[in-house]
Amino acid sequence: MRVRRCAVVLVEPRESIDFDLVELALGETGVRERLGWLALAAHCDEEIPLDAAAVAALGALSPGHWQSLDELSSRHPRAVLEALLAKGLLIVQAPADEISRQFAQADEAVRAVHWRGLSAVTHRHARWRGVDSEAVERLFSEASPQTFLERLGPAPPVVGERAPAASRLPLEKPSPSPLDALMDRRVTCRNYDPAPLSFDAFSAVLYRAFGARAVSDYAPGVQLLKKGVPSAGGLHAVEAYLLVQRVEGIAPGLYHYHPVEHALEPLRALDADEAAKLARRFVAAQAYYAAAPLQIALVARFERNFWKYRNHAKAYRAVILDAGHLSQAIYLGATEMNLGAFITAAINEVEIEQAFGLEPMAEGPLAVCGFGVRAVTRATVEFDPAHRVWP
Ligand SMILES: Cc1cc2nc3c(=O)[nH]c(=O)nc-3n(C[C@H](O)[C@H](O)[C@H](O)COP(=O)(O)O)c2cc1C
Repeated sequence: MRVRRCAVVLVEPRESIDFDLVELALGETGVRERLGWLALAAHCDEEIPLDAAAVAALGALSPGHWQSLDELSSRHPRAVLEALLAKGLLIVQAPADEISRQFAQADEAVRAVHWRGLSAVTHRHARWRGVDSEAVERLFSEASPQTFLERLGPAPPVVGERAPAASRLPLEKPSPSPLDALMDRRVTCRNYDPAPLSFDAFSAVLYRAFGARAVSDYAPGVQLLKKGVPSAGGLHAVEAYLLVQRVEGIAPGLYHYHPVEHALEPLRALDADEAAKLARRFVAAQAYYAAAPLQIALVARFERNFWKYRNHAKAYRAVILDAGHLSQAIYLGATEMNLGAFITAAINEVEIEQAFGLEPMAEGPLAVCGFGVRAVTRATVEFDPAHRVWP
């Protein structure tokens, strides 16, 4: 059998805290601190505990060259190598069983995309599965008599001032423009009307945020898009995957937006109940966002950005910044049509990947946005201190 180390793995010495209930009952603190090694691999969702022997072996195994397991056994304890194989940190060249095959496939997906190691591990391990933010909040409030803000204490000041007030150079505010009026009315919407969104409004906001205004044949085999938002390298690697619940003329379901054709690619039809349940799971049970007529997962096609920015220290940051620009374009496009919009980073990436059939290290959800007609009354809090939306 020939093996090699997985492409990307970081090893962290982490201190964890356990409680010894017997000690606790005897009136002592019961707190037990334990220091151990954890492997964070870019092709595995789980954090993998390691012992010192496994860490030493891992540091001596090539991620590039396939080597005979028998030959490696002359240099490392066989049991340690077997344990690394079972954990998927050693990859088998010709896997004979399903689990080894899955590890090899997941490792290959990481290699194919030219990830920077640190970014790959950050991305893989920041993904949520099955998180219910409402339940988490309830747990917090039950666990302590203090409110959340009481526990946090005062926030750092609103401005990081760097000079005495007297030395400031005052600037002129511009006279109000249509852009000012639009930005003043941009308020994250957490109250959506239950009626369907019109087809025209849906189509217009999608075009303004995601539609390609031109396609450029930049070089043989390299096309760039011109959109209303900037994008790292002009690559526009972040795309829109939609969960439609209530849009006139569009059946509830999952879609991909085609930015060049300005068209929806249907992926899966859903009944209204399925769509509502999935919407809730996508946004980690934030009910006010699940109630929007549609959700848009901003999905980074890492392979497109990293095709140019290979193993690059800034590339992952750049695609996240791209998503921020798209979100603002949705907000402004929606606000211009008197609609409300939202973005949330509190999302269950794993459920979104599964619903749309995405390989996590090739195409990853970074945030979920949405928009729709505002409700007549405000049931959930919104941040509108200047009363531009809510009188
Ligand atoms: C990156 C990002 C993540 C956000 N995540 C959430 C979220 O998880 N839940 C939520 O209710 N709002 C979320 N928001 C919206 C903010 O709460 C909102 O922008 C903020 O309260 C300011 O309100 P405004 O957008 O109306 O000015 C997010 C905004 C951004 C930019």
